[in-house]
Amino acid sequence: MSPLPERKPVSASRTELAELMMPGDANILGKVFGGRVLALIDKAAATAAMRHAGGVCVTAQIDRVTFAQPIEIGNMARFVAEVTYVGRSSLEVRVEVFAMNLNSGEERATNTCYVTLVAVDEEGRPRPVPRLECETADERARYEEGRQRMEERRRRRKGG
Ligand SMILES: CC(C)(COP(=O)(O)OP(=O)(O)OC[C@H]1O[C@@H](n2cnc3c(N)ncnc32)[C@H](O)[C@@H]1OP(=O)(O)O)[C@@H](O)C(=O)NCCC(=O)NCCS
Repeated sequence: MSPLPERKPVSASRTELAELMMPGDANILGKVFGGRVLALIDKAAATAAMRHAGGVCVTAQIDRVTFAQPIEIGNMARFVAEVTYVGRSSLEVRVEVFAMNLNSGEERATNTCYVTLVAVDEEGRPRPVPRLECETADERARYEEGRQRMEERRRRRKGG
């Protein structure tokens, strides 16, 4: 395996998944089931994290999930994920979800979420990841916000 680079740009992690929502994805109200949306958020986040880490990452925490609008059966759901912050072995990934009506082409923002993943070695032990290179002012702002959220998560885990 080639050695990991010291730094990687945010853009190298950017990932997009799209999936047509089928009747089997429905809840009892006939909209897309929230658990199905979460599973696809997790998949998009894991892909973005693994692209940055260059190897396996496991999900440690999912937080700040919003369900602003339902996704309809027959919509195409689009999941856009990118790494916003990295610690030593942990990565924060922001995922945005959009639902497209394929008849009209109209797209709505439906969900946002932050997923924390940890890069692990073959024994499942945390391992270091490359630093995150922010190339734009927006990326730098998101990095600083991510750092603050990571600190808050650490405080909460310690019961603070
Ligand atoms: C995630 C996991 C590898 C962390 O292992 P650990 O021995 O507790 O790790 P450490 O305490 O050394 O922490 C390692 C890093 O993870 C972060 N971390 C650990 N638990 C966390 C949590 N619950 N939420 C957010 N971050 C967490 C730490 O802050 C640390 O970050 P840093 O290296 O960037 O400073 C371990 O808890 C695990 O395997 N969990 C199960 C994962 C899983 O099965 N996911 C679902 C399938 S993918």
